[in-house]
Amino acid sequence: MESEKACLGGFVVSNFMRPSWVILLLLFTLVTFLSFQPPTTVFPIWVLSGWSKSDDVDVDVHSGNPESCSDFFRGVPQRKLVMSIEDFGGVGDGNTSNTESFRRAIRYMQRFVDQGGSQLNIPRGRWLTGSFNLTSNFTLFLEEGAVILGSQDPKDWPIIEPLPSYGRGRERLGGRHISLIHGNGLRNVVITGQNGTVDGQGKMWWELWWNRTLGHTRGHLLELMNSENVLISNLTFLNSPFWTIHPVYCSNVVIKGMTILAPLNAPNTDGIDPDSSTNVCIEDNYIESGDDLVAIKSGWDQYGITMGRPSTNIIVRRVSGTTPTCSGVGIGSEMSGGISNILIENLHIWHSAAGVRIKSDKGRGGYIANVSIRNIQMERVKIPIRFSRGSNDHPDDGWDPKAIPQFTGISISNVISINSTKAPVLEGVEDASFEGLCFKNITLLGVASSAKWHCEYVSGFADEVFPVPCPELQNNGTSSWCSPP
Ligand SMILES: *[C@@H]1O[C@H](CO)[C@@H](O)[C@H](O)[C@H]1NC(C)=O
Ligand SMILES: *[C@@H]1O[C@H](CO)[C@@H](O)[C@H](O)[C@H]1NC(C)=O
Ligand SMILES: *[C@@H]1O[C@H](CO)[C@@H](O)[C@H](O)[C@H]1NC(C)=O
Ligand SMILES: *[C@@H]1O[C@H](CO)[C@@H](O)[C@H](O)[C@H]1NC(C)=O
Ligand SMILES: *[C@@H]1O[C@H](CO)[C@@H](O)[C@H](O)[C@H]1NC(C)=O
Ligand SMILES: *[C@@H]1O[C@H](CO)[C@@H](O)[C@H](O)[C@H]1NC(C)=O
Ligand SMILES: *[C@@H]1O[C@H](CO)[C@@H](O)[C@H](O)[C@H]1NC(C)=O
Ligand SMILES: *[C@@H]1O[C@H](CO)[C@@H](O)[C@H](O)[C@H]1NC(C)=O
Ligand SMILES: *[C@@H]1O[C@H](CO)[C@@H](O)[C@H](O)[C@H]1NC(C)=O
Ligand SMILES: *[C@@H]1O[C@H](CO)[C@@H](O)[C@H](O)[C@H]1NC(C)=O
Repeated sequence: MESEKACLGGFVVSNFMRPSWVILLLLFTLVTFLSFQPPTTVFPIWVLSGWSKSDDVDVDVHSGNPESCSDFFRGVPQRKLVMSIEDFGGVGDGNTSNTESFRRAIRYMQRFVDQGGSQLNIPRGRWLTGSFNLTSNFTLFLEEGAVILGSQDPKDWPIIEPLPSYGRGRERLGGRHISLIHGNGLRNVVITGQNGTVDGQGKMWWELWWNRTLGHTRGHLLELMNSENVLISNLTFLNSPFWTIHPVYCSNVVIKGMTILAPLNAPNTDGIDPDSSTNVCIEDNYIESGDDLVAIKSGWDQYGITMGRPSTNIIVRRVSGTTPTCSGVGIGSEMSGGISNILIENLHIWHSAAGVRIKSDKGRGGYIANVSIRNIQMERVKIPIRFSRGSNDHPDDGWDPKAIPQFTGISISNVISINSTKAPVLEGVEDASFEGLCFKNITLLGVASSAKWHCEYVSGFADEVFPVPCPELQNNGTSSWCSPP
């Protein structure tokens, strides 16, 4: 998330033209033709699955496909108990509150955690509810036409403790509203269905933000804390009050086949924010929102440093969408627990302020290391590649100005961007330059040929890059940065 101003990055959203596919095809052919070198090794994929396929699997998304990371989720056995929300008195009329029905269902299903697990089906209908918690060995299944609607009463989103790695709510001091669907300390959870919908009806919350009467930090649509082996797939998530999907302190999470939508001006409606989490697979998702489509984070300033919980082994692949004032994929700005071993590939981003953006600041501490970003296609993205610092966004006065973040081993390759308006803007943090950068096979069209890269506190290597990179990236460094050990 970012303050509105920081996310806009000072650029006005302009109108655009839709490029025809014929022209796109021509451009691709041109770029391929111009760069007829044998493909060089890119970053190794550090990520290892660590899971073995279990027998007797009900939900098994193990594909054996090297182009998929869905085996970060180990299959789960068929659930012993399957019930419907209607069995717990639920009424899907879009008006009756089902908060008690959901909570009763979960209380009942908790008994099956060690007795074969359970599944709660949500049939076609409109199921209004306040926040409810999930349990372990549990599947929430939204049938075709099922819509879970977020309550419009803030009291149905009670206040919970702030995250220890943030020390306070992200937007307001103190606690924060719980997410609509919440889980803490869970294992083996599946949230899926036949493209059913969870609609946070976030407008009320965005208005509280806009009119500055928000008392506590807004809730997410779905937040899972301290959880392991989670699959979130094949659903549509709409209108989150705040970041849409927030796995924090989690491991082995797969988010696949999701459609995530929010109005393009809805504040801080990030799509997916893996935060201090390990082995996260974000694949085949379509996202349109008012903030970053995907933002990788790991805690905020002194709180994140103290907690020291990194985000590592994260793959973001085949994500497409638009966010006119923010970024396709962001790393940071909260990165104080460290972020490493990140693979971002095969993105398609259009009509956005930035394509790939790395954000940090003094006081953050932490590091960003071993990031490989490749095969990115963009149209009408203003600044295709952007590193930035400083929106003076700290949790409180206790931040340490000497806590300087470190950046090493960031490789960006095979990027084509058409109808972009600015050359890359690479602003490192003073005393903490970006080092070992690699830019390779990058073609940014639309940018005036006189446009200069804006570089501060960066050094690295560039090859087959248009427009011509800044001196800090020319004849400087080594191509080994494009394929580190
Ligand atoms: C909607 O629910 C409220 C309270 O839950 C009730 O007073 C009202 O009559 C309901 N309206 C309709 C159209 O069912
Ligand atoms: C869940 O089910 C698995 C077997 O599938 C079992 O090993 C585990 O103890 C159960 N409970 C929890 C909390 O995971
Ligand atoms: C849900 O879990 C949170 C802790 O993560 C707890 O504060 C809250 O009371 C729980 N809500 C319900 C309805 O059990
Ligand atoms: C799921 O529903 C959304 C919203 O209606 C739609 O855009 C999307 O294409 C659907 N996905 C699938 C796989 O049918
Ligand atoms: C702010 O927005 C909320 C939610 O829509 C509304 O209830 C409230 O009356 C608004 N307050 C002001 C001061 O405009
Ligand atoms: C998504 O739905 C499709 C079609 O029903 C199914 O084949 C696939 O296994 C599901 N994927 C996941 C990850 O749930
Ligand atoms: C980055 O990758 C190198 C080479 O694989 C490894 O030695 C180093 O520990 C990694 N850094 C982090 C922070 O994971
Ligand atoms: C350069 O990048 C473009 C766009 O991703 C890709 O189509 C092309 O194959 C790449 N060229 C090489 C030599 O890798
Ligand atoms: C933007 O795209 C259109 C259609 O492909 C093209 O005609 C136009 O020249 C492009 N503008 C720039 C600045 O690249
Ligand atoms: C290499 O990068 C450093 C650090 O940015 C810069 O001071 C130096 O001028 C660069 N060297 C060349 C040859 O461009």
